[in-house]
Amino acid sequence: MGFILAIDGPAGAGKSTVSKLAAERLGFALVDTGAIYRCVALLAAERGIDWTADAELGALARSMRIEFELQADLNRVRLFGRDVTDLIRAPEISRAASAVSARPSVREGLLDLQRRLAREVSGGAVLEGRDIGTVVFPEADQKVFLTASPEVRARRRFEELCERGAAVSFDEVLADQLARDREDETRAIAPLKPAPDAVLVDSTGLPAAAVVERIVDLVRHVQRRQS
Ligand code: DC
Repeated sequence: MGFILAIDGPAGAGKSTVSKLAAERLGFALVDTGAIYRCVALLAAERGIDWTADAELGALARSMRIEFELQADLNRVRLFGRDVTDLIRAPEISRAASAVSARPSVREGLLDLQRRLAREVSGGAVLEGRDIGTVVFPEADQKVFLTASPEVRARRRFEELCERGAAVSFDEVLADQLARDREDETRAIAPLKPAPDAVLVDSTGLPAAAVVERIVDLVRHVQRRQS
């Protein structure tokens, strides 16, 4: 198995941008685990499966075939061969993803897929999520917990949604995000929290390039120690 870099943190901390740039710099694959939960939500919505139907959601999670392809401008997501990169970013899918991610059967059902996607690459993998360092890969070679202030996080998400042409207000995005944070932090199974051995990085007021530099340095340091 190659190098495993776990990048966890709340919504809007800059994980996607930083993880993508770090993966490019290091020549690693990028496994966006949030996108995987979003795919469960999308399939459940399309197939009319209730967000609380544990057994059906679990079966759905275990059956999924997903591929990531890191391209110049984004990390493309294919679900059963279908490009769902944009579809899974819709606000209603964000809410549904948060709901399905609280279901034990979904979290359990996705463990294997997340581990497989990271292990099947030869060089190394960046796994971006909420519980990578605590649950999915407690033995990760390097763990980073990325945070930023709630306002900065909501501002980033708002700008991202505006760029995609969504008609939302900043207040809506902030309220939505605080609600999702609460759900993610208080759920009984795999709540969002830093692993004891994670390096905490606060990106408030820091450009993405500086955060990436810090993370690449951490990885190089571990790689030198391992070789
Ligand atoms: O990072 P994101 O916004 O794409 O994540 C979508 C949802 O999935 C979010 O509510 C948190 C949840 N999630 C999770 O519970 N565990 C992960 N490893 C990744 C995401």
